[in-house]
Amino acid sequence: MIVTIDGPAGAGKSTVAKMLAGRLGFEFLDTGAMYRTVALELLRLGGIGQAAGLDQWIDGLEMVFEPGRAWLRGEEVTREIRSSGVTALVSTVAEHGQVRRRLVGIQKAYGKGRSLVTEGRDQGTAVFPFAFCKFFLIADVNERALRRFRELEMQGVAVNLDELAHQITERDRRDATREIGPMVAAQDAILIDSTGHSIVQVVDTLENHVNLRRAHVHD
Ligand code: DC
Repeated sequence: MIVTIDGPAGAGKSTVAKMLAGRLGFEFLDTGAMYRTVALELLRLGGIGQAAGLDQWIDGLEMVFEPGRAWLRGEEVTREIRSSGVTALVSTVAEHGQVRRRLVGIQKAYGKGRSLVTEGRDQGTAVFPFAFCKFFLIADVNERALRRFRELEMQGVAVNLDELAHQITERDRRDATREIGPMVAAQDAILIDSTGHSIVQVVDTLENHVNLRRAHVHD
């Protein structure tokens, strides 16, 4: 059984997906980590233009993913893929058709025969169109920027709040307007606005929807 959570950057998808998976006894898949791992490799190579023959290059790139962890060519990169350099590059990398094809292939294979809560931008549309329950999680951009600001503050990173809001808006624009696998709510997705709600309140709402649907299916 697959539950998908899509939506814009900083809406709380990862935290919500992880908690919901824990409550349902499902596995959790963070697909943004996959795009971030490819972006990290390109950043190390000196930018997206440096991967000569990107189409073949991506097929040969060795990556391993486990819930909450990522490895690139055998090296654990779980923390490094969250760097600001990777964040700045990742939505450009995610526009590449061949990158998407490879990662969507990994995601589909991972979902086979598993009970999964998966989060990203295209999970309910391109990757798991027949998912049991789909959510599209949104939140006001100022609240998303503030959440990110606090996260970075805790890590001792000083940033400007307006600049953060601008970066988030720009990343959303790129994610929503790309040709392949754009960020869009599936027609049958349930729209959840987390503005002004705690994580626990949001997880409660999602869990209720899943349980209602389960009860309905078993009737
Ligand atoms: O959720 P995140 O911030 O870790 O995602 C990083 C980027 O990866 C995001 O800007 C868009 C891209 N992405 C995507 O295109 N498709 C997905 N399923 C997940 C993420």
